[in-house]
Amino acid sequence: MQEVDAVIARRLSSDVALINQISAYIIHAGGKRMRPKLVLMFANVLGCDSPASRELAAVVEFIHTATLLHDDVVDESAMRRGKKTANALFGNAASVLVGDFLYSRAFQMMVSVERMRVLEVLADATNVIAEGEVLQLMNMHDPDATVESYLRVIRYKTAKLFEASARLGAVLADAPAEVEEACAGYGRALGTAFQLIDDVLDYEGDSQALGKNVGDDLREGKPTLPLLIAMERGSEDERQLIRHAIEHGEVERLPDIVAIVRRTGALEATREAARTEIEAAKKNLSSLPLNKWRELLLEFAAQSVERSF
Ligand code: IPE
Ligand code: IPE
Ligand code: MG
Ligand code: MG
Repeated sequence: MQEVDAVIARRLSSDVALINQISAYIIHAGGKRMRPKLVLMFANVLGCDSPASRELAAVVEFIHTATLLHDDVVDESAMRRGKKTANALFGNAASVLVGDFLYSRAFQMMVSVERMRVLEVLADATNVIAEGEVLQLMNMHDPDATVESYLRVIRYKTAKLFEASARLGAVLADAPAEVEEACAGYGRALGTAFQLIDDVLDYEGDSQALGKNVGDDLREGKPTLPLLIAMERGSEDERQLIRHAIEHGEVERLPDIVAIVRRTGALEATREAARTEIEAAKKNLSSLPLNKWRELLLEFAAQSVERSF
């Protein structure tokens, strides 16, 4: 990962001062670097350790960072990675444009690997992420959104990049199709679990530990799984309160709504759904070589559902 960070630092450079300033601001704010770790772990579990894997690890982090810059504009978020968001500090226009810079820099880097399959995987992933964000926009303020549509949104907007990251490790190792699918399956399930937990933490997390504000989802009228379950299980009055909050994005009622979400066990049920995904993720590892990397992938899966940031 130190070498990946060196690639990231080298590849960030631009002759345009504001690009350097904003991209360095968000990249050096940290982040868990989960997606690049997946690229490296999957390449390594299959016996591949090459400069191309470090390059692609940096690529997926750039794509992730570009989506965060765009996402914080769309979500009007004020805090990310424990700091003010780029949009809060530099404005929406600069955030969107620097996001585009990072996206297109990622494309320059992936071309440098000179493998058509890599381009295919990442072109598909970025396209699906965009579809996920637009699907989610269509569900905003819709209290009749279904669990199916919610799951589709999170598979697209979040799980797809985890899936692509894991798959790239297999592609770099020239793995056969069924092994590539097992790796992709792990990434997809892990990414789904990861977003489920993110949606739990938006209700019960601690913004200091998380590095981002809690309650943002309700403020934006996002019908995430905790709310969908609470509506299903709550009394008629509770259901009406939640419906109204989704429609109008009422953050003043957040304490009442958190109380309903807790009382109905919706957070625990969402956590349980995440654990089920993690079990599915782990099953995909059984066909991979048994080595220290596979152990690490098992641990990685377990940690990502028990996280508080
Ligand atoms: C944030 O992703 C966006 C989601 C998909 C929930 P991360 O939680 O991986 O963000 P960083 O990179 O660690 O800040
Ligand atoms: C982030 O989704 C997904 C992408 C960046 C594509 P969210 O909007 O739920 O994530 P946070 O809570 O802002 O990190
Ligand atoms: Mg957001
Ligand atoms: Mg969002």
